[in-house]
Amino acid sequence: MITLDGPGGAGKGTLASELARGLGWWLLDSGALYRLVGLSALREGLDPDRAEDRERAVAIAQALPVHFVPDKGAGQRVELAGEDVTDAIRADAVSEAASRWAALPPIREALLSRQRDFVALPGLIADGRDMGTVIFPDADLKLYITASAEERARRRYAQLSEKGVAANLEWIYREIVERDERDASRDAAPLKPAVDAHVIDTTGDDVAASLDKIHNLVAAKG
Ligand code: C5P
Repeated sequence: MITLDGPGGAGKGTLASELARGLGWWLLDSGALYRLVGLSALREGLDPDRAEDRERAVAIAQALPVHFVPDKGAGQRVELAGEDVTDAIRADAVSEAASRWAALPPIREALLSRQRDFVALPGLIADGRDMGTVIFPDADLKLYITASAEERARRRYAQLSEKGVAANLEWIYREIVERDERDASRDAAPLKPAVDAHVIDTTGDDVAASLDKIHNLVAAKG
């Protein structure tokens, strides 16, 4: 079991799927679960600030009809009740909704056992914010993947430009900083490295360089 935690846009997702592919292990993208809650709640017009909407959101989280479909060379696709929502859950509005719902303890509680159910042989790569601190405290190797907010904003901007989506770098930067702050300052499972995590700063590194560092750590573990 290897956990990868860290802020959004630090490269965790790419590194986690590359690692899972290389080792032939299973992959848990826990952020996708929070994003699915965010997407479903947005579609139902639910607001995390309205107490009466929270019960419904918890019910959604408990019964998420999610299915992860392995996608050759591109990680995995995400299906919600048979609908392919892989791209829909990456929308900015969904990122924000996910992070707001994720701050509520009953939502986290509702997703806890579902995340632990991903454990299977020969091994699991778990990607998120609290994988090493809360969900899998006994993981064999814990990694905390980070990068400067400027670099993360530039990467997101490049990603969007590549897809032909108009974007504003300054605005993306502000959103990243705001989401980091919300994830790190919440009481429930705040974003922070586990005490026994190896911190890997990917600022200035490409994927291959970061993977090299991780493979060295995996090899050192035996
Ligand atoms: O990793 P990703 O950007 O897809 O996660 C979306 C949001 O879900 C994060 O901003 C965070 O608020 C929440 N999240 C979380 N705990 C996790 C994974 C994601 O709170 N383990």
